[in-house]
Amino acid sequence: MNGKEAAGKEAIREVRDGMTVGLGTGSTVYYFLQALAGKVASGLKITGVATSTKTIELAESWKIPMKSLNDVDHIDVTVDGADECDAALDGIKGGGGALLYEKLVAEASDRRVWIVDSRKYVDQLGHFPLPVEVVPFGWKKVYTRLKQDGHRPELRRNDAGKTYVTDAGHYILDLHLDRIPDAGALADKLDHITGVVEHGLFVGMTDTILIGYPDGHVDTLNRD
Ligand code: 5RP
Repeated sequence: MNGKEAAGKEAIREVRDGMTVGLGTGSTVYYFLQALAGKVASGLKITGVATSTKTIELAESWKIPMKSLNDVDHIDVTVDGADECDAALDGIKGGGGALLYEKLVAEASDRRVWIVDSRKYVDQLGHFPLPVEVVPFGWKKVYTRLKQDGHRPELRRNDAGKTYVTDAGHYILDLHLDRIPDAGALADKLDHITGVVEHGLFVGMTDTILIGYPDGHVDTLNRD
């Protein structure tokens, strides 16, 4: 057992028969999907809505019934990972590059639950580089603007050294900020830069965080 597995398995308590369930992306969500697939195999009836091609492939390989976001009225609960989160239940997402679809699915969800291992629960957001998804056209202009503002952007590359391209065909600039004193203010600023499609700051967008520890226990943080 590790913290990711503990949190991922615990999140199955969020799912009831008949629900439409948003399925996040990443190595922690893997454990949730595994547990969910087990319940589906035993007769649980749910419909999944994925946040990335990786998650669709995994869910379909495990025979979880899926629909696209366009084909559902609403989502009952979404279970997703995060790269950093704090006591205000704000966080950074997008380490896996799925931030745009993750935010779209989160916004369509009645309830949002994050699953993280305990190392991701921090006093101050910003040590993890903040992903900013940008349109390829003129991306260097956005890069220069962010650099001039002291946000230390870096174009994300894939393992082969090529420019990383998201599921939606965009690039990612990772901002090496070290600390984000005011997540709401930075989110607002990024929301207003032309060429920025979305950013990985999720402010006030999560209801519950399940924090898993290496010994298998899980703490629950709820929004008041
Ligand atoms: C992908 C994400 C993931 O949820 C985040 O990167 C956490 O991933 P992992 O569970 O593999 O640590 O935001 O875009």
